[in-house]
Amino acid sequence: MRMYDLIMKKRNGGILNDEEIRFMIDGYTKGEIPDYQMSAMMMAIYFKGMNEEETVNLTMAMAESGEMLDLSSIQGIKVDKHSTGGVGDKTSLALTPMVAACGVKIAKMSGRGLGHTGGTIDKLESFEGFSTEISTEQFIRNVNEIGIAIMGQTRELAPADKLLYALRDVTATVDNMSLIASSIMSKKLAAGADAIVLDVKTGSGAFMKKEADAFSLAKEMVSIGKNAGRKMMAVISDMDQPLGNAVGNALEVKEAIATLRGEGPKDFTELCLTIGSCMLQLSGLADNDEEAKEKLQSVIENGSALNKLASFVEAQGGNKNMVYEPELLPKAAIISPLYAPCDGYIDRIACDEVGICSLILGGGRETKESKIDLSVGIVLQKKVGDYVRKGEPLAVIHANDEDKKKICEERLLAAYRISNEKKDEGPVIRGLVR
Ligand code: URA
Repeated sequence: MRMYDLIMKKRNGGILNDEEIRFMIDGYTKGEIPDYQMSAMMMAIYFKGMNEEETVNLTMAMAESGEMLDLSSIQGIKVDKHSTGGVGDKTSLALTPMVAACGVKIAKMSGRGLGHTGGTIDKLESFEGFSTEISTEQFIRNVNEIGIAIMGQTRELAPADKLLYALRDVTATVDNMSLIASSIMSKKLAAGADAIVLDVKTGSGAFMKKEADAFSLAKEMVSIGKNAGRKMMAVISDMDQPLGNAVGNALEVKEAIATLRGEGPKDFTELCLTIGSCMLQLSGLADNDEEAKEKLQSVIENGSALNKLASFVEAQGGNKNMVYEPELLPKAAIISPLYAPCDGYIDRIACDEVGICSLILGGGRETKESKIDLSVGIVLQKKVGDYVRKGEPLAVIHANDEDKKKICEERLLAAYRISNEKKDEGPVIRGLVR
């Protein structure tokens, strides 16, 4: 078999069989197929798509490209959660300590930023010393002892996805349904959790721009997971404007900490409570949504969710004082408001543009090797439906470079549309798939 022939077959709209998919995934994982051929294949799949059978075969080949974790030595139901990626999506940072404080066992594998969206690992590295490069033994021990552990994708776990994720990030081949479904579900299956809750984003800041596509992606992933014997639920949530107000690594960590103190933005808090409720119900710790949300509210109010974050950060080598004193987190040198050019209601915020602005400031990667600046980003002061007066701040830019700040100012201003008529922001939760 030759990779060249497979690229041509897909480029011409052909259907790849299981053997061909395994040849390409094994060859790429072993380094026998070079990046340039795999990039061409990703682009061919991007344009020609994959059918359901190809997607399932791709998922299983990627999941089995490395070790399949055995979490049976952790007592209780182990739950994982994954988002398809968004702007200001700091959900895992606040949600996992909340549900762990309620007794759910969180054995989670997270990723880094992808395209214009941020990644949980990058954000967590805002805590000085924090590392997700922990051994499987430590991962299991932490889940047993603290109730929560997050690891990065090791070389052993779904290595094909680790390689493809980095390649797709820099070759404009992220937003394809089969590539997203196989990427997410391969690592979720390999990571061994009994139950998985997916947060599938839709809107201008999501990879799935249309709600119908987000529902299709959710159904496809839920079906792949159930067929592999896992308990599955998916929440479809809004990404037509950034989630919460903060976009950028350390800024998002600060907002997640505020949320654990009960002082978070309304949309972000609602999303955490909804996904948290699914996680509690799948673990058997709540019988219904109302009971689950009451439990989640109480761990926010009594401080145990915040303490859980501190224990988790400390257990993975991080400075837990930063949880209680978030002003110790990385800070940018330039903090500069962006003023509204006129009076009116915020009608629209081009969400992907806000993500790109954060990337331009240094908060994301331009190439696989780029190092990111944890301190930079944007804090929105006005969101869809809000009224703004000329000269009031729309957002505050956190930057370390004047030139980048200027580019960001121009793009961010263009991302906001201000109108005379008030438009209500849509619901943050668009639906559930189970
Ligand atoms: N998250 C993933 O893990 N993979 C994707 O392809 C998109 C979002």
